Amino acid sequence: MRTKILELLRNREDYLSGEDISRQLDVSRTAIWKHMQALKQDGYDIESHSRLGYRLRHAPDLLLPDEIRSQLTTDKFGRGPIFYFPEVESTNTEAKKKAVAGCPEGTIVLGEAQVGGRGRLSRGWFSPFGKGIWLSVVLRPPFQPQEAPKCTMMAAVAVNRAIRRITGIDSGIKWPNDILFQGKKLVGILTEMSAEMDAINHVVIGIGINVNIMKQEFPEELREIATSTAVATGREISRLTLLTAVLQELEDVYQQAITQGFQEIFQEWRRQSITLGQAVNVIGIHNKFAGIAVDIDDDGALLVQTADSLERVIAGDVSIRPRVEE
Ligand code: BTN
Repeated sequence: MRTKILELLRNREDYLSGEDISRQLDVSRTAIWKHMQALKQDGYDIESHSRLGYRLRHAPDLLLPDEIRSQLTTDKFGRGPIFYFPEVESTNTEAKKKAVAGCPEGTIVLGEAQVGGRGRLSRGWFSPFGKGIWLSVVLRPPFQPQEAPKCTMMAAVAVNRAIRRITGIDSGIKWPNDILFQGKKLVGILTEMSAEMDAINHVVIGIGINVNIMKQEFPEELREIATSTAVATGREISRLTLLTAVLQELEDVYQQAITQGFQEIFQEWRRQSITLGQAVNVIGIHNKFAGIAVDIDDDGALLVQTADSLERVIAGDVSIRPRVEE
């Protein structure tokens, strides 16, 4: 009902009378009044006039499911359940619970703030209220479990496409799936999977995008290594617009992966990469070494040429060594 009321208000620049709404939606005027009160409480700026009716002046800058649905362009992602939390421990943790309970592919979980946001390698993820996109998407890919890491790289390509398209900045991908701008981290992606030996039950793609966080708002230890689209462009952007672009790009690359495989997506990853061709330090699971990142292979592993061998990196921390001016 709430979604339908908002739709009517959005399609009308002028006032819409309570009587009109009640007739079109076949509900009592008292019920409409109650919905209006609830919407105002959620931050919708709705003007009420005793004779003229209601007019939507401004929707809140929140990633509310009704707002998302009103801007979605996808066929599947975000069309099913949207779980929205003003505050949540971690959207990935919630999404995993929903996935185990059988939610459909394309289900999304969003938090305005995360109090236990999780990053790769057991790190945390800074997720302040209303300043970023803290999103998890549930996939049920028809791939073999060993192909799951490719989903992560596919997500990086999709998010980077969306960021470039909406903000115009020249961001790039650091292996395997960080998005950086001028050497600072803009986006982190955490992919988690549940699988049997030969089939994936679900994959949760967790995406954290720093959007309207100002430099001083980052904790001190992140100020020199993290950035946001607002810092990069000097202007705040609509999180809703960026979110719906991310969902569209993700749906597109996922469809491409299913129908054509990962080859083209990996080519795009290579073009957007800021790791390839660079001198890197690798902290692997069992060892540490330095070399030149030369390529990724068909599984998405990073190939690093050291002084005496070509190493294949499948997991771990890869840092780009700053160039030494000669
Ligand atoms: C990284 O370490 O780079 C990955 C960070 C991933 C953060 C996102 S925010 C939404 C989702 N929920 C989480 O708890 N983590 C991911």
